[in-house]
Amino acid sequence: MRLRPAPSEEGSASNALGDMKINRRQFMRYGFNTAGGVLAASLGALGFASILLPPSGSTGGDSAVKFWAKGREDEAWYGAMHLQPMTKSSFETEAAKSNVGMAGAQGVWNGLPVIVNYVPHAENSGKPVADNSPRFQEMPGYDIAKNYVGHATEFLLSNPEVFDPNNNLVMSFGRCTHLCCIPGWQLVSNSFTDDNWTPGGGDDGGTKMFCICHSSRFDPTAIEVNRNANRSNGQMFEYLGIRRAGGPAPVGLPIIPIIMNGDTIEASTEYTGWLTYCD
Ligand code: FES
Repeated sequence: MRLRPAPSEEGSASNALGDMKINRRQFMRYGFNTAGGVLAASLGALGFASILLPPSGSTGGDSAVKFWAKGREDEAWYGAMHLQPMTKSSFETEAAKSNVGMAGAQGVWNGLPVIVNYVPHAENSGKPVADNSPRFQEMPGYDIAKNYVGHATEFLLSNPEVFDPNNNLVMSFGRCTHLCCIPGWQLVSNSFTDDNWTPGGGDDGGTKMFCICHSSRFDPTAIEVNRNANRSNGQMFEYLGIRRAGGPAPVGLPIIPIIMNGDTIEASTEYTGWLTYCD
């Protein structure tokens, strides 16, 4: 299955998402210019106001993903690495301290807020499915109206470049699908973010990404196909993402394909049509 517009938009060249590229101005627009009141409040609460500025020294087309812990350098495990390129080994080191072997961090990529999660999929995928043995789960996806959209396994057979579970890393766009908040996903401690894991992509267990704005939860281990609307023109688009587990968010967060450059985490700009829901 190739990325495509929803049936009602077939034939719209502007919605040929697989062909979309993004320039610097688009990055900034997709990142930061909507939901001003909610956004300002949430950013202020979590000290992410400075993310409104582009990464220092960044230029259009920069593929590097950098840690972002502005204002929370003393609390986040990656605080001392603020604005340093993300490396897989740093996640592995942090994950080794976890009961379930997971670690997550807020980041910035070309001015966009992103979240990277480490999941020990390669180590656990050959074991029986059990609590606290996290792995990526390729799942069916349903849109806001509960209509079946597609299955992640089917999607990945046609688009393997979008996500490699055996890399143990998943990166998603960092704006909530509810009201486009940019919360400090990995900086909230509550029952949803506890250091434990249950299978099924539901709302139980921990290790959820939690949106502090209105308490939406997302499971970074549950990979699904879903559908969302571009707010500027109403056109629907389909994407591979991580599942919404609970709260007012209508659908899950889109995945941004990771490209490894040695140990350094970089990202592909091939699928930025998925990031337009906050226009
Ligand atoms: S913006 Fe409302 S739950 Fe995230």
